[in-house]
Amino acid sequence: MKTPALKVQIDSDGCGLHFLILEESQKPIRVDVDFSKRNKIGLKSDLLARAIGYRASQKDEGQKLRIVDATSGLCRDSFHMASLGCHVLALEENKMLYRVVSDQISRLSDECHLKIENTEAKKYFKNWLANFSAENKNVDVVYLDPMFPEKRKSAKSGKESILLKLLAPIVSSEQETELLDLALQVATKRVVVKRPLSAPSLKPTHKKYLKPNIQFEGKAVRYDVYVCSYEGLGKG
Ligand SMILES: C[S@@+](CC[C@H](N)C(=O)[O-])C[C@H]1O[C@@H](n2cnc3c(N)ncnc32)[C@H](O)[C@@H]1O
Repeated sequence: MKTPALKVQIDSDGCGLHFLILEESQKPIRVDVDFSKRNKIGLKSDLLARAIGYRASQKDEGQKLRIVDATSGLCRDSFHMASLGCHVLALEENKMLYRVVSDQISRLSDECHLKIENTEAKKYFKNWLANFSAENKNVDVVYLDPMFPEKRKSAKSGKESILLKLLAPIVSSEQETELLDLALQVATKRVVVKRPLSAPSLKPTHKKYLKPNIQFEGKAVRYDVYVCSYEGLGKG
């Protein structure tokens, strides 16, 4: 059977920008990036908070985690981390995702420290490393959630994952390794990689990081944590 051709369009109303997934002769499917509708998760069951090393005691500005979410997509995870009080810089290379998400971020209160840049993450990290100085050594955690090919089409695939699949390419394992290697040079505390439960861990080049130091497993996803001990620019 032929798969119907889907297209994505940006639309707007009183709530700002949103996406429409268009399918021939079907009603458009609306996808919102409405941060106000996100549910808060209790800290005990919050695997992401544990994976990034968040502590409720990190209350002073100087103690708050500074995170770069290098593959931010719809910024669900970025917003989650910013809601904990972390300072999050989200990077997204896709222009349509950037446009809609940045419009929604501009509607958040100033208390939420979430910013987004439309950039390719490897380029951003290379530039960061080239301009490194003691003053800009301020990324505690790099968070990665690369696209992962689904083994089989799931009827349960939500509209958000359909949208991401339409907009974002699956990258090669070499590209994933290059991104992880750069992330490990930039982060001072840890790099966290979100993976489907059954997927293998990404493999960094440096033998110091042959496998994740910690893994947090949920029902469908796993967080692989690579702990960094800061030893200076281009460590190891
Ligand atoms: C699986 S989605 C991330 C979903 C995200 N964690 C969320 O909460 O919505 C991966 C996203 O990363 C983006 N991406 C992948 N590689 C990238 C790169 N090298 N630089 C910037 N963005 C990238 C893709 O365009 C896609 O939107």
